[in-house]
Amino acid sequence: MNIAGTHYRAIFTRGDPPEVRVIDQTLLPHRFETVALATPGDAARAIREMVVRGAPLIGATAAYGVALAMRSEPSDASLAAAIRTLSATRPTAVNLRWALDGAATLLRALTPAERAAAAFDFAARLCDDDVRGNRAIGGHGLRLFRSVAARAGDGVGGSGRPLNVMTHCNAGWLATVDWGTATAPMYRAHDAGMRLHIWVRETRPRLQGAGLTAWELGQHGIPHTLVSDGAAGHLLSRGRVDLVIVGTDRTTAAGDVANKVGTYPLALAARDNDVPFHVAAPGPSIDWTIEDGREIPIEERDPDEITRVRGVDEDGVERSVRIVPEGTRAANYAFDLTPRRLVTALVTERGVVAAEREALGRLFGR
Ligand code: MRU
Repeated sequence: MNIAGTHYRAIFTRGDPPEVRVIDQTLLPHRFETVALATPGDAARAIREMVVRGAPLIGATAAYGVALAMRSEPSDASLAAAIRTLSATRPTAVNLRWALDGAATLLRALTPAERAAAAFDFAARLCDDDVRGNRAIGGHGLRLFRSVAARAGDGVGGSGRPLNVMTHCNAGWLATVDWGTATAPMYRAHDAGMRLHIWVRETRPRLQGAGLTAWELGQHGIPHTLVSDGAAGHLLSRGRVDLVIVGTDRTTAAGDVANKVGTYPLALAARDNDVPFHVAAPGPSIDWTIEDGREIPIEERDPDEITRVRGVDEDGVERSVRIVPEGTRAANYAFDLTPRRLVTALVTERGVVAAEREALGRLFGR
């Protein structure tokens, strides 16, 4: 997407030999800076410390992490070590395993001398496929937005009021290589002239909605309003939301969805108010090895993310402040599981499909 007239991907290379760079998302929305990843350790650290985050971008960064390892030492031992280190960074997004398995299968079949070039090639192809897939999700989502607007009547999305869409966390272009998953239909619809308004949930504890989604939508000129996570039920019950669309870190073969914590109560409130609840789910986020979402590991993170808030003060100085009584015990679950019965449909790069084993398998030939 464009930032001040320059097109950026969330991860990109430049020069020859390629330098791998990412946008440092820990600095947004206050500062836009890119940083270089020079070693597999840098890539692992960037994922662990959430310099990069979002399931597809985690996968892409891991693929480049392997490429960096192959550039410095293309042996079997180095490949195994890079995969071990990168696998251990974050547990929930299945894109990480998908990217590492793909790289490992390809590279093990090659001689060490062939590996560095092949690994960089693999990572670049993975990124291009991500961009293509997300754009396609945008196309299918746009048709979905149009049909929801048509059902609402009164020129909603056109001559009438805007179509009101609610999203959670950041499943935007910053969470992918470009376009985003849940945001791709928003960008496509806005670019096609549809009137949209996005309810952006702040997404405690790390505030990816407030800091990243609001920033992205603002950069693209899409009207949006930030609300606290708890306000969703109120808005849904008052008819202020036409549809909900979120991303996913791992969707099972049967359609259960793990996504940022708070997604499940949002889906419950949407169901209680008959508001469609959609999940933008690219193929690499589907875990074909499991059907029951309760098998998905749910990441637990540092309690400091709940007990403290980070931001910028009036003088532009970044600060982290404690918001609880000293010594308060906190548990920080990063994701939750939305059972398939609450999911209206999955929006994939291959089309919109029911969150059901058979339908999903048929669509992806699995
Ligand atoms: O903890 P994060 O910021 O990596 O969580 C991101 C999400 O939960 C996204 O919704 C998900 O990864 C899909 S991104 C297209």
